Amino acid sequence: MQYVNLGRAGVKVSRLCLGMMSYGASAWRPWVLDEGESRPFIRRALELGINFFDTADMYSAGASEEVLGRAIRDLASSRDEVVIATKVFYPIAGHPNAGGLSRKHIMAAIDDSLRRLGMDHVDLYQIHRLDPDTPFEETLEALHDIVKAGKARYIGASSMFAWQFARLLHTQERRGWTRFVTMQNHYNLIYREEEREMLPLCQAEGIGVIPWSPLARGFLAGNRKRGQRDATLREQNDRYGHDMYYSDADYDVAERVSQVASGKGVKPIQVALAWVLRQPAITVPIVGVTRLEQFDDLVSALDLELSDEECKRLEEPYRPHAVLGHE
Ligand SMILES: NC(=O)c1ccc[n+]([C@@H]2O[C@H](COP(=O)([O-])OP(=O)(O)OC[C@H]3O[C@@H](n4cnc5c(N)ncnc54)[C@H](OP(=O)(O)O)[C@@H]3O)[C@@H](O)[C@H]2O)c1
Repeated sequence: MQYVNLGRAGVKVSRLCLGMMSYGASAWRPWVLDEGESRPFIRRALELGINFFDTADMYSAGASEEVLGRAIRDLASSRDEVVIATKVFYPIAGHPNAGGLSRKHIMAAIDDSLRRLGMDHVDLYQIHRLDPDTPFEETLEALHDIVKAGKARYIGASSMFAWQFARLLHTQERRGWTRFVTMQNHYNLIYREEEREMLPLCQAEGIGVIPWSPLARGFLAGNRKRGQRDATLREQNDRYGHDMYYSDADYDVAERVSQVASGKGVKPIQVALAWVLRQPAITVPIVGVTRLEQFDDLVSALDLELSDEECKRLEEPYRPHAVLGHE
């Protein structure tokens, strides 16, 4: 396994992070694995040297954190061996203060996450989205206080517009509050909007970029067929995936990935991941794994080289509109 720094922070993380959205409770989403089925994945990840795990309070309505916490206690040699990331924003309960990024909710949510994880701190505490109803300052000071209280080692942010993230970073600097070390955003061969603003901002600011759904939720695996949605249990049931991908242009990208892969004698998923890993702004992709054998493809993609010509072919079907002032 390769290890890198999380942005400018000193902590070292494996070049792949295991996404925990796939593990917790199948009652939450039908493609999610229950605890008994999930544990072998966490065990395998640890065996492969993956030390970085990303969950969220809302995944399986809290069960993902519980499953991860128990597995780390039973399977890892120590708490210190792993880097645990979780998130706050989306409500799990139904009352008016159950979600968002108010000081009240953040303070309650970190304690709830720590209780479910059975840990006294998380390594990376992330805001899952921005809360339009809470002033930036209130959120940022609460996050700073959580770090100072020893409940989180670092803080990170997730999908938002680059101007918003720039404003948050500026406010943290101006007020002397703990700075975000990571941006967890959507990025893969199909969704490349982040290349305009967010990735250059993160590079300029030394922010670690840890993209979610780097394999487009399996859409780039080479098994998704036009007009069908039944290749895997996840494809059948992944409503968010259905909303995000599945345009004709997206199939064009997926087919190009398969062509390049067959030219190299490797699997499409390896090419899709190798392309993300090759982007200079990218620190660690957060991958989802639903069958144990999928790990081998993903780990071998770490050493898969793509030529400039192959990258050009992969990128060709994606056609962003030109922006004035950019050549
Ligand atoms: N911050 C956010 O807003 C946000 C949003 C989404 C996700 N996330 C995080 O990102 C993590 C990853 O998200 P994701 O699961 O959508 O990511 P992904 O890595 O893009 O997709 C995972 C899917 O790819 C397929 N796959 C993986 N390895 C494969 C292989 N070797 N061969 C064939 N197919 C393979 C599997 O699909 P099948 O199951 O169909 O086989 C798997 O479910 C989540 O667990 C979560 O931690 C964060």
